[in-house]
Amino acid sequence: MTNTIRILQHGGPEVLQLDHFEVGQPGPDEVRIRQNAIGLNFIDVYVRTGLYPVPELPCGIGFEGAGVIEEKGENVESLAIGDRVAYAGGPLGAYANERIIPAEHLVKLPDSISDIQAAAMMLQGLTAHYLMRQIYRVKAGDTILMHAAAGGVGLILCQWANALGVEVIGTVGSEKKAALAKENGCTHTILYREENFAERVREITNGKGVPVVFDSIGHATFMDSLDCLQKFGLMVSYGNATGPVTEVHLGMLANKGSLFVTRPLLWDYIDTPEALARCSRELFDVVNDGSVKIHVEQRYALADAAQAHIDLEARKTVGSTVLIP
Ligand SMILES: NC(=O)c1ccc[n+]([C@@H]2O[C@H](COP(=O)([O-])OP(=O)(O)OC[C@H]3O[C@@H](n4cnc5c(N)ncnc54)[C@H](OP(=O)(O)O)[C@@H]3O)[C@@H](O)[C@H]2O)c1
Repeated sequence: MTNTIRILQHGGPEVLQLDHFEVGQPGPDEVRIRQNAIGLNFIDVYVRTGLYPVPELPCGIGFEGAGVIEEKGENVESLAIGDRVAYAGGPLGAYANERIIPAEHLVKLPDSISDIQAAAMMLQGLTAHYLMRQIYRVKAGDTILMHAAAGGVGLILCQWANALGVEVIGTVGSEKKAALAKENGCTHTILYREENFAERVREITNGKGVPVVFDSIGHATFMDSLDCLQKFGLMVSYGNATGPVTEVHLGMLANKGSLFVTRPLLWDYIDTPEALARCSRELFDVVNDGSVKIHVEQRYALADAAQAHIDLEARKTVGSTVLIP
């Protein structure tokens, strides 16, 4: 029997229900894995609340995990029983001790990366990768703006950018988070509750602004983030922690300096086994060479997933969080 957290309806953390059922056998091109760690991500909150649609209810939840292959279906040749693997992506259902998943979504783990590290870094690390290496390829000497710099994606991105010679201006919700972001390569921190971050970005860049903003806060920060950009700058709106951005008039991009905007999703950047393998390899490389340390700052039992969601939404977490089955 597997222990699985499912949602029967959308709502608050209380809709996360522990359930037990037979996981069954993998079909063609699928494998069954026993998971040793599960990644907690803010996107799980959007799924739980219904902001991001699900195919049907009830449904599983969670997009990220790491463990060992226990059974293979037909046609699975690239992986073997006993392989250590991890994934970031659908189908939903990562909050479980066992699950079935398409083999092409899996990446083999090197011995140097533990299951807990992998579950903490696949989704957030691959996000940092596509933001900085694919959407806007940062280069030494750039100064960029990152919101939620002490969060899961934030700490990975700050370290990676730093290793590439990039200065990060990071917004954070507290002094403690500012100190952590700085320890992890964030050059300038802005306490957005106390300071106007757009004014501070102009000050720090001597009025110039930044070429790119990585904004996962959404509704509350979108407009001010545009004001941080240089002419022809790129606004990357990749999350909705304060709600979705709905009131954009394209004309404002012209008035603020012929700006560009994108609203990306990780899945489109790792949508083939080759792309997933290539991006994962680059992520593993920066972890293995010590440029990026994965901060697993919170661990919860799988059965306490609701508490993990409460803490994530209350901005109590820093770095990455895992659920242990
Ligand atoms: N589009 C994609 O492909 C993609 C992929 C991965 C993640 N994301 C997005 O990236 C963001 C970061 O994800 P994560 O898992 O690493 O989470 P996280 O950054 O560890 O946690 C969210 C952080 O956002 C800040 N925040 C500001 N306003 C908030 C509010 N009203 N409620 C809750 N938090 C608020 C908090 O930091 P402060 O206290 O410092 O403000 C909080 O700690 C999320 O928005 C997520 O959806 C997008």
